[in-house]
Formats: sequence, C-alpha cells, structure tokens
Amino acid sequence: MAKTASRKNLYPDGKNTDLVPRRVLMCTSEAVPFAKTGGLADAVSSLSLALAKLGHQVKIAMPRYYHIDCGALDKLEGAMGVPAGGGEEWTAVYTAALPGSGKKNPVLVYFFDHEAFFGRDGIYGTPFESDFRDNPRRFSFMCRACFQLCRKIDWYPDIVHAHDWPAALVPVYLKYGEKYGVSSESGSFAETKSVLTIHNLGYQGIYNKDDFFYTNLGWDVFYQSCFDDWNMMNLLKGGIYSADKLNTVSPNYARETLMQEHGFRLDGCLRSRARDYRGILNGVDGEVWNPARDKFLPAPFSAKDPDGKKLAKQALQKRFGLAEDPEIPVIGMVTRLSAQKGIGELFGPGYGSAFSICRDMNVQFVFLGSGEPWAEHEILGLSSRLANFKAHIGYSEEISHLIEAGSDFFLMPSQYEPCGLNQMYSLAYGTLPIVRNTGGLYDTVEKYNEQTGSGTGFMFDYLSPSAIYNTVGWAIWAWYNRKDHIAAMRLRGMKQDFSWDKSAREYTNLYKDALDS
Ligand code: ADP
Ligand code: GLC
Repeated sequence: MAKTASRKNLYPDGKNTDLVPRRVLMCTSEAVPFAKTGGLADAVSSLSLALAKLGHQVKIAMPRYYHIDCGALDKLEGAMGVPAGGGEEWTAVYTAALPGSGKKNPVLVYFFDHEAFFGRDGIYGTPFESDFRDNPRRFSFMCRACFQLCRKIDWYPDIVHAHDWPAALVPVYLKYGEKYGVSSESGSFAETKSVLTIHNLGYQGIYNKDDFFYTNLGWDVFYQSCFDDWNMMNLLKGGIYSADKLNTVSPNYARETLMQEHGFRLDGCLRSRARDYRGILNGVDGEVWNPARDKFLPAPFSAKDPDGKKLAKQALQKRFGLAEDPEIPVIGMVTRLSAQKGIGELFGPGYGSAFSICRDMNVQFVFLGSGEPWAEHEILGLSSRLANFKAHIGYSEEISHLIEAGSDFFLMPSQYEPCGLNQMYSLAYGTLPIVRNTGGLYDTVEKYNEQTGSGTGFMFDYLSPSAIYNTVGWAIWAWYNRKDHIAAMRLRGMKQDFSWDKSAREYTNLYKDALDS
C-alpha cells in the first residue's frame, strides 16, 4: 500500500504539526444534504468537511435512496457485485462532491444504487412501517459494499469509519474477512483500522437471529463478535466488540453510557472496551448555522451587531400568527417527537407541562417537529386550546432557522442526549437553552447563577413535568427581572466556539490511536 506522507507545520498556530493525512472512508446511512432524519446526517457531513480541511482524504459511502436524484450525480462505469446472503447482489454506483467541500481536496460521496433495497420511500421505514422488515439485509449490503467500492475505485483507506448501527457491520467485515482478503497490486485492507461512532445508543439494530444469514458471515463470527442478544442479533453490539476504536459524540455521554441508567443494556459491553472508548463533542457547521449570513433570516446579526435578532423575533411571531410584541419571551423548540426528547413529560396526555407553562406564564411558545403520532395529536390539541402556543407539524429547514434566531429561549428537556446540536445552534444565535443536565447538554450549556449572572442557559437534573415547568418559570422570571443577566448570557453564548475544527483534530488523534493499536 502506498504510504501517506507526513505533513509538517500544517497549522499556522503550530498545533498538531506532525499531522499525518489519512485516507478515511465514512460509512453511513445519512449525510446532509442527501438524506437526513436527525443530527447524524449533520454530524457526518460536517466532520468529513472539517477532516478534509485538515488535509485528510475523506470519502463517504451511503445508499442512494429513492429521493436522491441520480440526474444530479455521476455514474461510475460498470456494475459492482457485492457478496450477500449466500450469493451476490449487483449495484450501480453514483458519485458527487459533498457540497461545501473545497476544490483542492473534495469530499466525494459514493451512492449504492440498488433498486430492491433502496428504491422506496423512507430511510429506515415509513410512518406505516417504522422499521423495514429487510433492514438487516439492506444495511449488511451497504456495509459490505463499502469494501467492494474501495476495490472498484482502487483506493484503500487507512481508516474505515462506521456510524451507528446501520454501519456497525463494517468493523466486523474488516476484522473477520477483509483484512485477510484478496489484495491487489496497489493495496489491501491488511493495514486498515476501524472506528465506530455511536451517535445514539438507544438505537441498536436488534433483529431476528436468522437474519444473520444476510451478512454472509459464519456463526463462529456471530458468537465471537457477541452479536447474540437474548437469542436475537444485535448489530451495534457486534460492532462494539469488533471496532479497533470507539467513540460517542460527547465526553459526558461517554461517561454516562458506561453506567446502567444510560447504557441501554450495553453498558457492560462498553465497560469491557473502556480503554478504546471516548467522547468527542460534535461541532456546529458555521457555514449553515451562522446568524451573520443565514439566508433564512430577515437580517443578519452577530454578537457585535445584535439588532437583527429583534427582526427575526418579529418575523417568527408573524409567521406563527402571534402578537408581534418584543417584550414577551418566546420559547422555541425543534425536535423529533420521540421519548428521548422528554416529550412524555412535556406533552404527555393529562399531565404534560407545556399546557401549564402557556396557561400560567406570560410567554409565547413555538414548536416545530414530527414523530410519535400521539404527541403530534396532543400538540395540535394544545395549539387549538391556547392562543400563545403555536405548532408546525412537519420538517422545515427554513422554519427551524427562524425559530433558532427569533426565539429568546430554546427548550430541550431530553431524557438523554448523546450530544444535541440544537442547543449549540441556539447559543450561536443568542437564544438561551433550557435543558436537562444530561449527555452533551451538560458539556455545552453552563447553568445560570442568579447571584453572579454567570452561565449560558437554564438547567435541571431530574426529568419530570414539574421540573420542566419550574425551570421554564425560572428562565421567565430572569427575563422579566434580570434583564442585564439575560443580555450578558446571550453575548456569552454567541461567543462560544463550537467549531468542527476542534472535533476533527480529536478524531485525527482517534485515528492515530487506532492505527497504532
Ligand atoms: P437528534 O439527532 O437526536 O434528532 P440533534 O439535536 O443532534 O438531535 O439533531 C437534530 C437535527 O435535526 C438538528 O439539525 C435539527 O435542527 C433538525 N431537525 C429536527 N427536527 C426538525 C424539523 N422538524 N425540521 C427541521 N429540522 C429538524
Ligand atoms: C444522535 C443524537 C444526538 C446527536 C446526533 C449527532 O441523533 O440523538 O444527540 O447530536 O446523533 O451526533
């Protein structure tokens, strides 16, 4: 395999002067702008761009879902065969540069175009079938196809970087097959190492054991990699035991997942791999989430010139049909409606706190999101009963930017939160987060101290409807009675540095450790 050269003095600040550019293949089920159900898609694309900026050669491999227009992509010549389920599946491969990548060192995305697996609506499922029955087959295919792709383009990575359960078979294929597989003159996977990033331990890819057949791996691998999970097959678990290095998306969540409360039954597995496991905080894509050049806002603003935020608030109130009053605090929320996000406590039938917040406090509340049907139903019910609660059920980039910019507070009462991106977007837009003390929320938000005025947001420890109610009440009290503190917190938040550059350097170290292992 051709050796990668060492680069000296890559950084003007003198840090990481001995950075070695690596070849990295990201394997993922989501990446913006092509496919997204949550923060995973943002994280994969932003990280890839940031790594490329540091000099790494990064490629992304993912499915071409039905909604990704192949007219806008280039087709690689010839079909590609992928061993699967005792036979072989054939796929076309498309490619495109990841938007935002530089001309010199572009991040190329490769799409596997397999009609039977990906030529349908939905990434993992649809509202009527939340988890496609053939997901183990679809995603084993994606993982195996990554290696075939490298052969096809004659490019062998130093690191295969798998994201979440859909890509968790990548480390397994590497460890039990590809490492010893056929090599070509220009390279092989013999020196390649694997990294698995866990974006959310709550989703593990647990399927019937019989579906292991589709992986084309032997039963010895099933047991050696510990896929077994109470007589089921747990894909993430197999990945955890096979990857050379593991990480999750914030240091605090890494600690939490080693304990039972947040370990989702895999805390023991993670403890057994603790030496190889760490937390690396996600960043914010400053090209997309930057109030100084956000194309969705009526006017730009920044810490130095914050006036545009008032216009954003007015536009938000107008958009949702609320009284255009600058004095009333606006609480915003943008989220997937799943139990993880604390929606039971916030909107739960009969006892949720959103109703009492809007009834008892002089506030406006705007909501954007979709997910659990019961929660959508409750939210629509709330907006018909209360004049100061407005909701948009659905997905909208534009409204999400307007909510981040135009709100005064942003609510994230998560049960658990591996990292969370919205609280960081909020800080960048001078919107104060109200969060539960958990996961990445703890790492990114500093709790308000009303004696000193320090902090960047409001925080509570134990999740309950009354904890949310009381903490929102605390924030609203500060809004009306500690205006100077609120103004100072806003500025402090806007000056925080959540750049991906820092995270990309930490991933660089993780790659180095994987290669040294
Ligand atoms: P998670 O990945 O657990 O959903 P994150 O905070 O990491 O949580 O990321 C969520 C991402 O999805 C953010 O970029 C957020 O703005 C976006 N998002 C979630 N729901 C919507 C929606 N309804 N409309 C627009 N963007 C949304
Ligand atoms: C997951 C987590 C979220 C994290 C995102 C990106 O979806 O729920 O907290 O920010 O992945 O890593």
